[in-house]
Amino acid sequence: MELFDVYPLLDVTPERASGCTVWDDKGVEYLDLYGGHAVISIGHTHPHYVERISGQLAKIGFYSNSVQNPLQRELASLLGRQCGYAGYRLFLCNSGAEANENAIKLASFVTGRKKFIAFGKGFHGRTSAAVALTDNPKIAAPVNLTDNALILPFNDLEAVGRAFRENDIAGVLVEGIQGIGGIRIPAPGFLAGLEQLCKEHGALLILDEIQSGYGRTGKFFAHQYDGVTPALITMAKGMGNGFPIGGLLISPEIEAHYGMLGTTFGGSHLACAAALAVLEVMEEEKLTENAAATGHYLMDQLRGLPPECEVRGRGLMTGIEFPYPVKNIRDRLLHDFHIFTGFSGTHTLRLLPPLCLSREQARVFVNALFSVVTPEG
Ligand SMILES: Cc1ncc(COP(=O)(O)O)c(C=O)c1O
Repeated sequence: MELFDVYPLLDVTPERASGCTVWDDKGVEYLDLYGGHAVISIGHTHPHYVERISGQLAKIGFYSNSVQNPLQRELASLLGRQCGYAGYRLFLCNSGAEANENAIKLASFVTGRKKFIAFGKGFHGRTSAAVALTDNPKIAAPVNLTDNALILPFNDLEAVGRAFRENDIAGVLVEGIQGIGGIRIPAPGFLAGLEQLCKEHGALLILDEIQSGYGRTGKFFAHQYDGVTPALITMAKGMGNGFPIGGLLISPEIEAHYGMLGTTFGGSHLACAAALAVLEVMEEEKLTENAAATGHYLMDQLRGLPPECEVRGRGLMTGIEFPYPVKNIRDRLLHDFHIFTGFSGTHTLRLLPPLCLSREQARVFVNALFSVVTPEG
């Protein structure tokens, strides 16, 4: 049987990895500035992570959500303390799209309304409501098209105000920092304005922190730079360091009832062990602080790029937009310097390394980038 061919693949076969380093099947060593798409938070194959998951697997890997699972409570308690939302409740699922799907559903249940606002260049996943609120018609099938999704210009509070006056809005879904859209930080006051409009109109603010959360930006969640308190916060990627797990933080004002949300696999013993290991390492090794400091250093070094390049980001979530397509730069970084990077659209290089990236590793990347960047691309 052949694979269903939906991914354009790089010609590299990673075989093993450690920290920010990946080795391919020929033994070639790569520096990982991409973190498997923002997923590797504490570093590849961290010994504590390997031990916690292996130990759990030897005890019990899975039962269903119909029995007591103290690991879920342990995870909720540690996460609540670390992220600053100890009073919120946690619902566990398996991916980012699923976390958003549940958040959208919950906001609709709570308000009794159907319409949601999301933003241009936003990405929220490929399942039904999440893809309807994603600004990319190419990945929405006819069945996903709905009048319930209003996609408005990012950072345009006036447009949001108008949409609220003209529609019965259930919620607003927005990324802490737009990732796939090219590392775009909400303008000062934008998230606070959304929060205010949601309050005035009885709607719920949903922060998608799937890419920008879990310490990546130098705070646990990117929206914590803006001083807002969303009703719902979605997480995935860095949460399991590669083990599939997603989650939803839910304001104490929202009441739960049996059957409201549910999943077979979400919150399994093994997934909780992975997520607990991630939080334990983040705390022990101060990885959020490292993301802030190394990100600051990286940003500073990138000021040496030609002035026509625009560098955006916070912590270890960085976008470098060039006036020309970045394909050549990315290919040369990979093949000549053995450095993994990501991209957004055609013109932006995207960096999402493990949060344990050192200054020395950041410098290796900067030196390589400077030597491949030419005025013509
Ligand atoms: C901001 C954001 N939301 C949602 C998703 C969807 O997550 P998943 O691919 O785990 O469904 C992504 C994935 O890239 C994302 O970046």
